[in-house]
Amino acid sequence: MLGRTVIEKTEIDEMVGRIAKEIEKDFGPGSPVFVGVLKGCVFFLTDLVRQISSPLEIDFIQVSSYGSGTSSSGTVVLVKDITADVRGRDVYLVEDIVDTGITLSDVVEMIRARHPRSVRIVSLLSKPSRRKIDVDIAYLGAEIDDVFVVGYGLDHAEQYRNLSDIRELIPESE
Ligand code: IMP
Repeated sequence: MLGRTVIEKTEIDEMVGRIAKEIEKDFGPGSPVFVGVLKGCVFFLTDLVRQISSPLEIDFIQVSSYGSGTSSSGTVVLVKDITADVRGRDVYLVEDIVDTGITLSDVVEMIRARHPRSVRIVSLLSKPSRRKIDVDIAYLGAEIDDVFVVGYGLDHAEQYRNLSDIRELIPESE
């Protein structure tokens, strides 16, 4: 069941605009690659890059974290690889939410293996209280408490991604 609104669309737009400005200020030479981690990144990535006027490339990676329910198990498997040649380029890894940090730390390793000049993490949300592996988030929208959220790309069992606001999901048993 959908619960309270955690972040309204207007706040999301402000966060995205702020992150875009911060990133563009730090742009190095050459065209960077924005790699979205599917599927949760879709709306965030497309909104973010349209706020940036400098040349850039977009690409996607998809991993699956085997486990059940609302937490990942720790085994991250590559489902769809990037196609861009990232060697010697700046990579911005765009994620919807960093929870335990397990997924992203593995994805960072997968990207680093292709010898980019840099890899920086851009995440809309972070749940620091749930962290098991420390990940360095270079650009962050907002920290949230340990609640399960859906909307603006975030899902539960593939549902709710299309909501404009970010809402809390209340488990059916409660
Ligand atoms: P981590 O490996 O535990 O950091 O999990 C990261 C992934 O779990 C995210 O990319 C999301 O797909 C998913 N996830 C974690 N927390 C939430 C949430 O509150 N709502 C929806 N998906 C979540």
